[in-house]
Amino acid sequence: MKIISFFRFLNAARQPKYLKLMLNQYNKDKVPVYKFKKISIASILPGLSETIDYCQFGDGSSYPIDIALYKGLIKRYNKKRFLEIGTFKGGVAENLGQICKGVSIDCKEWENRTINNNVEYLMLNSKDISDKLGKFDFIFIDGNHTFEYVKNDTEKAFQLLEKDGIIVWHDYLKRGLIKEVNPPVSAGIMLGCPPDKQKYLYCVPETLCAVYIEREFKEAKSRVTCELKVENE
Ligand SMILES: C[S@@+](CC[C@H](N)C(=O)[O-])C[C@H]1O[C@@H](n2cnc3c(N)ncnc32)[C@H](O)[C@@H]1O
Repeated sequence: MKIISFFRFLNAARQPKYLKLMLNQYNKDKVPVYKFKKISIASILPGLSETIDYCQFGDGSSYPIDIALYKGLIKRYNKKRFLEIGTFKGGVAENLGQICKGVSIDCKEWENRTINNNVEYLMLNSKDISDKLGKFDFIFIDGNHTFEYVKNDTEKAFQLLEKDGIIVWHDYLKRGLIKEVNPPVSAGIMLGCPPDKQKYLYCVPETLCAVYIEREFKEAKSRVTCELKVENE
């Protein structure tokens, strides 16, 4: 009985409409990889020294060195208002709320999320982001990591970004010992970014991040410190 079903399936799959469907799915999964110019964290933020106050180590959260990058960029370039796409448990919003004001959105409510008084938390799907949120000079994109969402979030970020603003994307590099570029994230960034701005996209290899910053950097040696403050229970 099972064998007959299998052959029926094979027969059906040969029909043009199913072949087209399978081909579409294959093309959808096979997105190109875009490798941005690498720039070390020491070159982008020479002498960086950051203390990370609060950090979650759950799946999908930023690493301490990632948070040091966001905080370092905000402080060094004097940014005043951030937008985070993908609050999760609130670790990044908590750290950024300690140095400036901002808005953090998530399409889902998470239990035990931290609350910082400088941050406005909104339950909002990133595809519904509109100009009503106002302008931001630092945008951190860490929501849904599929190509379509990253492209949408990138386009929206450029609409809401102030002149000289900075955008950081998390998970541009995959987690793990050997850091490879994450294809759907890289393609979403590249194709969501206005073509004349693409030359300012960087990969910061000590982190999982890609950064848009309208500056040229030279590779430089410098000491970078990232300290994690752990509270005793
Ligand atoms: C990887 S986690 C974010 C981690 C957090 N930024 C951090 O570094 O600790 C991704 C979050 O994005 C949210 N998310 C997924 N798709 C979204 C969407 N379309 N709009 C808004 N939030 C979304 C998820 O609910 C999840 O909380």
